[in-house]
Amino acid sequence: MSQPVAAVTGAGSGIGAAIARELGSRGYHVVVSDIDAEAAATVARGIASAESHRLDVTSPADCDALVNNIVTAHGRLDVWVSNAGISKMQRFVDISPADLVRNFEVNTYGVFYCGQSAARAMIALGTPGRIINTASMAAKQGGVPFLADYVASKFAVLGLTQAMAFELAPHGIRVNSVCPGFVATPMQTRELAWEAQLRGADPETVKQMWINDTPLGRLEVPEDVAKVVAFLASDDAEFLTGESISVNGGAFMD
Ligand SMILES: NC(=O)c1ccc[n+]([C@@H]2O[C@H](COP(=O)([O-])OP(=O)(O)OC[C@H]3O[C@@H](n4cnc5c(N)ncnc54)[C@H](O)[C@@H]3O)[C@@H](O)[C@H]2O)c1
Repeated sequence: MSQPVAAVTGAGSGIGAAIARELGSRGYHVVVSDIDAEAAATVARGIASAESHRLDVTSPADCDALVNNIVTAHGRLDVWVSNAGISKMQRFVDISPADLVRNFEVNTYGVFYCGQSAARAMIALGTPGRIINTASMAAKQGGVPFLADYVASKFAVLGLTQAMAFELAPHGIRVNSVCPGFVATPMQTRELAWEAQLRGADPETVKQMWINDTPLGRLEVPEDVAKVVAFLASDDAEFLTGESISVNGGAFMD
């Protein structure tokens, strides 16, 4: 049997890169994609069996093209991880329409478009598929400062995950989300600087606040998320669909 194929978006950095590496270590051929082609290529070079592509998840045509490319080359698509996301911290009253639209384009529409492309291919292939969306702790509670557009776009991902899981279950496709907490990535470095500025504090103080909010007592690392994604992709999660799994060291319990 040919090697199973897993595709990860936003895999040139942080959580997506860790997911790509984790799936690669578990025997998948990994399709590493990112809007930053060079970042994707660098990650792919560190994985035993991988290829890289530039993908802007806000383009439905590009999502379709990448999926078609994968199916033509490999004849299968087992796992799709919609992980690409953006954030910009600012007060609710200061968020511009352009920032709001861009946030939804990447964080919500990107998950929608990629999910459609992957699901169409998985249905046509007639093989079991798994789709995993990276949501957030901020997808389950709005008590998060300076991220109102992000919170709204990530809450939408949870509803979408359930709707996709419901409609795709008859095709043998499972759809779930992961909800990370305070993960040490380039996105977090940017958020530390923004939140420190908005609070009039220094970044180290903000970082300590986040650790204090985490019962397991440390910042999350991308690999904490990647291992749960690998579980959701595996047959150990065979009867699990429509769920959004918190992976946050206890920072928010639901
Ligand atoms: N870091 C955290 O604390 C945290 C917490 C909860 C959820 N998340 C979510 O995890 C995911 C990954 O975040 P991260 O912390 O690794 O961020 P990151 O900024 O390190 O990586 C995000 C990657 O997405 C890519 N990207 C951005 N726009 C894109 C687009 N239009 N199309 C394709 N790729 C695009 C970027 O180039 C980058 O490589 C995001 O969905 C984020 O919202 C992060």
